Formats: sequence, C-alpha cells, structure tokens
Amino acid sequence: MSEQNPSPAEFNRQVIDEFRANGGRVGGMFEGVSLVLLTTTGARTGRLRTDPAVYARDGDRILVFASNAGGPKHPDWYHNMLADPRLTVEVGTDDGRVERYVVTAESLHGTERDRLYQEQCERARAFTAYQAATTRIIPVVALRRTDLTDPARTRAIGEFLLRVHGELREGLATLLDDVDDHPAAPGVAAPTLGPRLATHCLTFCTALHGHHTNEDGAFTDFERQFPELAPALAQLRREHATVARTVTSIETLVAELTTPRTDRDVHKLRAELASLTADLEAHFAREEERLLPALFGGTH
Ligand SMILES: [Fe+2]
Ligand SMILES: [Fe+2]
Repeated sequence: MSEQNPSPAEFNRQVIDEFRANGGRVGGMFEGVSLVLLTTTGARTGRLRTDPAVYARDGDRILVFASNAGGPKHPDWYHNMLADPRLTVEVGTDDGRVERYVVTAESLHGTERDRLYQEQCERARAFTAYQAATTRIIPVVALRRTDLTDPARTRAIGEFLLRVHGELREGLATLLDDVDDHPAAPGVAAPTLGPRLATHCLTFCTALHGHHTNEDGAFTDFERQFPELAPALAQLRREHATVARTVTSIETLVAELTTPRTDRDVHKLRAELASLTADLEAHFAREEERLLPALFGGTH
C-alpha cells in the first residue's frame, strides 16, 4: 500500500494515530477541524471499531453529525450507535491531553435536530454541501457522559465487560491454534505469514486495543464513582500499557512476516502471542475480580 494512496481503513488509522499522539489535533485536510474519536461496537460483527468524526459542544453534550461527507448511506458508526448506544469518546483538552470517557448516544429528531444541524452549517460550510448532496436527513447525535450512579447502567457495563472478555479469549485461542498450524522452521514451505492469518492477527490486536481504549475511558469515571478502586484501577492501567507494548511488537512481527523473505519463521510471533496470552489471562481475571463486585452492586 503506497503512502500517497492509503485505503480508507489505513487512512482512518493514520488519522487516529496522529490524533492520539498530538493531543487530539490532526493536520493536513483536518487542520483546525474539531475531531473526536468514537469507539463503537460493530452492529453486525460485535467488534469494537474507532472512527474520527467532526464534533461540536452543546453545553455538557458532544454533538456528532453522521454526514458521511454527503454520501448516500449513514456511516457505520451511526448504525453501531443505534444498535448499542454505549460508546467511548476521545477528545482533545485545552492543555493538550486526550480525555477518554464513556458516553450514551441519542439520535436527535425534529426541530432540535434541525436547529443544531443549522448551527453546524454556520460553523462549517461543508455541512450545507453534505446535506445538499444526499436525500438522507443527516442525523445529529448527542453524546452524554454515562451516569455511573445508575445501578442499571453499571450492571450493563459489567455484563458488557464479561462479554467482550469472552470474545477476546476465544479470538486469541483461535489465533494461537492457527499460528500453531503454521510451519515453524525457517526457509521451508511457507516462510511468510499468509494474508488471512496476518489479517486475523491484526484484527485481534485492533479489537484488544479498542477494548482497552474503552476501559481507560471508563476507569476515569469508575474512579470518581468508586474511589476505593483507585489502586486497582492504577494497576489495571499499567497492565494495559504492558499489553499495548506486546501488541505493537506483534503488529511489527506480522508486518515483517508478510514480506516475502525466506529466512523468516513464526517462532518469535508464537512466543509473543504466548506471552500476550499469559498477560491477558491474568489481567482479565484481575479486572473481573476487582471491578465486577462494584459494577454489580454486590449482587453478582
Ligand atoms: Fe483491561
Ligand atoms: Fe477488560
């Protein structure tokens, strides 16, 4: 894939990396544009995905606009929000940090939607052109920080955490089996990683990263609501950082293993995946043990 012409997924990834590395600011065509990152759960796939979106503030709410640049269809993140309105936002702060937190999405209707869309057109003329280019009524979505004083909400978060852990455990086990089936010795039959296995590996890494991004956002709110969890949350955050380093190393190895050379083997990848499995098993167990009693309000 050339630098000049990245795929939409690769382009998104570059924007996301730049956003996170620069306190929420992105240059080039997004210079001066207010962007947030939205991490939603795929309505069909169940996997987490992160998308940049233009936003505006409205009191304590964040507004996002499902314009898809005037395209004929709603963006995927909008469908995901309708199916599961709990998501994580990442937003740049005035002092150059990226703040992450869990929000609940609500698609606005009628005069409220019309007024807020009009205000957005006045801030950024492109939104007038987007609406003119499509017969869709471009949705305006309000994102509100999730209220953790509501026991039904915290229980739903606990159930969600368990479900995602289950999926990630399963995903990693399948991946390990697939890598085990791969020839280990250098220079024999299939020294490079097949594209299917490489994609599978990178998809897992992205899903795991998305989960930890969501959690880092949620932990800030957990800390406020359950101050006694602060030491446990600090440790869980450190573990996220350790896991992130292993994931980066796995992504680098996968990139190397997909280049056609004969002196590669998958031994190192297998070792990194084994170390990731051990770290994750311990991490998931600790997280469930420490967080679920609080989230389930002592009824779990
Ligand atoms: Fe975690
Ligand atoms: Fe987790």
